[in-house]
Amino acid sequence: MKQRIMSGMRPTGKLHLGHYLGVIDNWVKLQDEYECYFSVADWHALTTKYDKTENLRQDTIDVVMDWLACGINPEKSTIYVQSLVPETAELHIYLSMITPQNWVERDPTLKDMAKILKSNDGMASQINYGLMGYPVLMTADILTFNADLVPVGIDQVAHVELTRDIVRRFNNVYNTDFFKEPQPKLNNCSLICGLDGNKMGKSFHNDIKISDTEEETAKKVMTAITDRSRMRKDDLGHPDECEVAFKYWKIFGETSEVETVAEECKCAKRGCADCKRQLGAKINERLKEIRERRRHYEAHPELVEQIIREGSAKAQVEAQKILKEVRKLVRMY
Ligand code: TRP
Ligand code: SF4
Repeated sequence: MKQRIMSGMRPTGKLHLGHYLGVIDNWVKLQDEYECYFSVADWHALTTKYDKTENLRQDTIDVVMDWLACGINPEKSTIYVQSLVPETAELHIYLSMITPQNWVERDPTLKDMAKILKSNDGMASQINYGLMGYPVLMTADILTFNADLVPVGIDQVAHVELTRDIVRRFNNVYNTDFFKEPQPKLNNCSLICGLDGNKMGKSFHNDIKISDTEEETAKKVMTAITDRSRMRKDDLGHPDECEVAFKYWKIFGETSEVETVAEECKCAKRGCADCKRQLGAKINERLKEIRERRRHYEAHPELVEQIIREGSAKAQVEAQKILKEVRKLVRMY
C-alpha cells in the first residue's frame, strides 16, 4: 500500500518558475512512490477574493495546464478542483465544531493576510469568518483523503501542525484512531528569486512564467540584476555579487558551465549582456518540453476540462468513503 500525499495551490493564474522549481517539480518526483491528490483550492481563493471571481475559472484552468505541462501525470496522480469535491466542505463543518477559536487566531499567516487585505481597496478589506477558517479548510482538504504526507513550503508548516492538533482532538472527542496525523514534507530546494532580486511573485512583476514564450523569457532575463559594481564590460566581474544572473546560472547550468561563467566573468572575458543572452537560452532549453506540452493543452482545452472532471470525480469517490466513516463517528443521521 502506497502512502498518501495531499497538497494544493490556490488558483492564482499562470504560474512562474518559483512555483515550478519550488513546488511542482517536487510533486512530479513524488508521483511514482505515493498516491497523490493535488487540489486547486478555489474555496481558499474566495477567502480573500470573494468579490473578484471573474477570472477564477480561467485561473483554475491555467494552474492545471501548468501542472500538466510540468509533468503532473493524471494517469498517476489525481488532479482535482476543491469545490468539485463538496465532501471537503462537509468535513470542514465537523472540524470547525471541534476547533477552539484561539487555535485559528494564533495562525501566523493570518496576520500577514490581514496586512495584505488592508492594502486592498476592494470590499474584502477585513478578516471575514471564512478567512479565519482558512487553516481549518486546509485541514479538511488533507483529511478528506486521510493523507500521510503534505508537501508544503516552510510558510505552510504551521497549518499542517494545526492539522495534527485537530486530528488528535477529533480522535479524542469521537474516541477513535480514524484520522492519521499527517506529516509536513518540506520541499528541499533553493528558492529562485525574482529578476530584481526580491522574492519571485506575480504581483511584483519580476517573474518568468512557465507559459511565457522563448522571446519573452529571453527579454526578461536581459533585465536580471547582475554585479552592480560592474559598470563597463572590461570591469572585472564578481559572480558572487551578481545578484540574480549568476544565481540563475547555478540553478540552470551544469557545474562545468557555471565554473566557466565565473572564470570568464572574473577576468572580464565575458560581458553581462552576452552572459544573460546565454542564460536566457539555457532557461529556454530547460523549459522547452514543458512549454510544448503547455501549448498542446492550450490547443485542446477540452482535454484539460476532461482531466479536471475525471480527476475530481475520482477524488470524490475517495472523499465519500472518508465522509461516510466520519458521519458514522460523529453519529449523524
Ligand atoms: N494553503 C496553501 C497555500 O496557500 C494551499 C493549500 C490549500 C494546500 N489546501 C491545501 C496545501 C492542502 C497543502 C494541503 O499555498
Ligand atoms: Fe553576472 Fe554574468 Fe555579468 Fe558576471 S558576466 S556579473 S555572472 S551577468
